Amino acid sequence: MQFMDKTDKIFVAGHRGMVGSALMRRFEAEAFSNVVTRERAQLDLTDEFAVAKFFAEERPDIAIIAAAKVGGIKANNDYPVEFLVENLRIQNNVIRAAYENGVRKLLFLGSSCIYPKFAPQPIPESALLSGPLEPTNEAYAIAKIAGIKLCQAYAREYGANFISAMPTNLYGPNDNFDLETSHVLAALLRKAHEAKTRNDRKVVVWGTGKPRTRLDGNRRSRCGSASLSCTSGSARIACSVRSAQRTDLPMPVDHESFWVDCS
Ligand SMILES: NC(=O)c1ccc[n+]([C@@H]2O[C@H](COP(=O)([O-])OP(=O)(O)OC[C@H]3O[C@@H](n4cnc5c(N)ncnc54)[C@H](OP(=O)(O)O)[C@@H]3O)[C@@H](O)[C@H]2O)c1
Repeated sequence: MQFMDKTDKIFVAGHRGMVGSALMRRFEAEAFSNVVTRERAQLDLTDEFAVAKFFAEERPDIAIIAAAKVGGIKANNDYPVEFLVENLRIQNNVIRAAYENGVRKLLFLGSSCIYPKFAPQPIPESALLSGPLEPTNEAYAIAKIAGIKLCQAYAREYGANFISAMPTNLYGPNDNFDLETSHVLAALLRKAHEAKTRNDRKVVVWGTGKPRTRLDGNRRSRCGSASLSCTSGSARIACSVRSAQRTDLPMPVDHESFWVDCS
């Protein structure tokens, strides 16, 4: 990680989540000695004053925003207000406090869902804002696009080294396996596991059955650390979008289901 010293103070927001915990394992494996974290109960990132106070007291060198309100298609579709408002608040608070307290480098995690529903595959970065979004996660995607644009604005207006990376859908340790709110792959893993332990003959699965490649959370942490080490200025990284494309699982609002024969 060329742009980071092992002793740099690194704030990982969302360190208990799937991506944040993968980053923590990575930093530990690479012997970074000054990683700062706060549990949500200690620091609610939607609280502007608490975030400003935290940054003023800790003054981290590096900040990684792996904290967000994250969910699968059903949760995004059911709660657009929460996905839009909470994510805007978290990212606005952290990005602004980072700039005002001299953070040298900031990585904001977006999502491949920022790209239009009918973007060409593999998705080129130029597809951003070129067409309508997938309606079920539009609110979340709009928040993510706002975060990317805020990082770009701080870079252009104030020369801040704030960058964004766009992971595709991920899975891995510490994922959310709740069947109502998880991403599709976590739900598939849980359903398959439980079906196997029960010796079920069938698993009921939402969608049309055409999912594409996914990227596991540990690989994401390597992309994240590579982003921090290799990139400077206002560059935006479409991390993994080319290697692991967006899922093509057009989940209808009424949750079309099909079943997989386990026999
Ligand atoms: N998972 C994916 O497939 C995927 C795909 C593309 C992009 N991403 C992006 O990667 C990032 C991390 O995703 P993830 O899957 O690791 O999510 P996650 O497992 O749900 O973790 C999110 C983390 O954010 C924390 N958090 C949420 N709201 C908070 C608040 N108000 N104050 C403090 N902490 C708060 C959570 O804290 P608690 O532990 O207290 O809940 C949790 O640790 C997100 O920006 C997401 O958009 C994820």
